Amino acid sequence: MKKRPVILSTDPGIDDAVAIALALFSEELEVKLICPIFGNVSLEHTKANTEKLLTLYQKTPRVVLGSSRPLLRETINASEIHGESGMDGYEFPEATIFADESQTAVEAMHEVVNEAEKTTLVGIGPLTDIALFIHLYPQDLAKIDRIVVMGGSLGRGNYGVLSEFNFAADPEAAKIVFNSGIPIQVAPLEVGNQAKIMPKITNRLKSMGEIGEMIYQLFSKYRSGSVDAGLNMYDALAIALIVKPEIFEMVSARVEIETTASLTYGASLIDLNNYLDLPANAEVAVNVEASLFEQWFIDSLAKTAK
Ligand code: RIB
Ligand code: CA
Repeated sequence: MKKRPVILSTDPGIDDAVAIALALFSEELEVKLICPIFGNVSLEHTKANTEKLLTLYQKTPRVVLGSSRPLLRETINASEIHGESGMDGYEFPEATIFADESQTAVEAMHEVVNEAEKTTLVGIGPLTDIALFIHLYPQDLAKIDRIVVMGGSLGRGNYGVLSEFNFAADPEAAKIVFNSGIPIQVAPLEVGNQAKIMPKITNRLKSMGEIGEMIYQLFSKYRSGSVDAGLNMYDALAIALIVKPEIFEMVSARVEIETTASLTYGASLIDLNNYLDLPANAEVAVNVEASLFEQWFIDSLAKTAK
């Protein structure tokens, strides 16, 4: 079966580390390019974390550095969730794979998109680089199959009262993406909260080789949920949205991003009841079959065992 070409914009980040493994070891996806971006931690850390992960995974997609800060707002981070390094909890071997710093992520996206007939952009961190790509290469947008995003929330946020971290980290970028007219699929916080990874799954990772052991140890430091109560694997749901769409309930809806208010800056208004009377601009995952996600999750990670 022909693999789907994908580009990952990511801010590892512990759930990103798992999502990157799920994508790289997937039989359905060809990861053409990974662009580390600021987000959970600084670009310096997300760059180093991406390099360590690819060295451990022994995979060599193109890696080109993304943005170190958002378009307009001040830079935020989520080090309280992922640790100071962004991947606390595991002593990685020295990296032997390094990011290309000779060009920008947007230039690399332009090159990769023009190598294939249709490419899927995956945003599992702030959407700054995807927004810049949209503005700088409008002639490439017809070559984008869709943009798959982990971000936003149907209700309460995880960064602000109503704002989810990825969109809050660069609200203007998120607004550009949702106004682009490109087909978009969104995995908001709620499907991650529905499909928590529970101890019976986490414990199986320990016997899944070096990568499984690494993920197991990162989970001990991950503070989005807990090992005992269940871990929020938000970014993994974006990958599942591409390769296991049948486990999701999807709704077409208008998604607007708040960029002018003070208290709700960065909030996503996912208009399930069409109160705004605006045309839908995204397919939003509103429910997921948690047991089917869990089975896919552990079966997919089992493929990383050498
Ligand atoms: O809100 C969850 C999202 O923010 C995830 O992508 C997590 O890695 C952080 O980037
Ligand atoms: Ca992320």
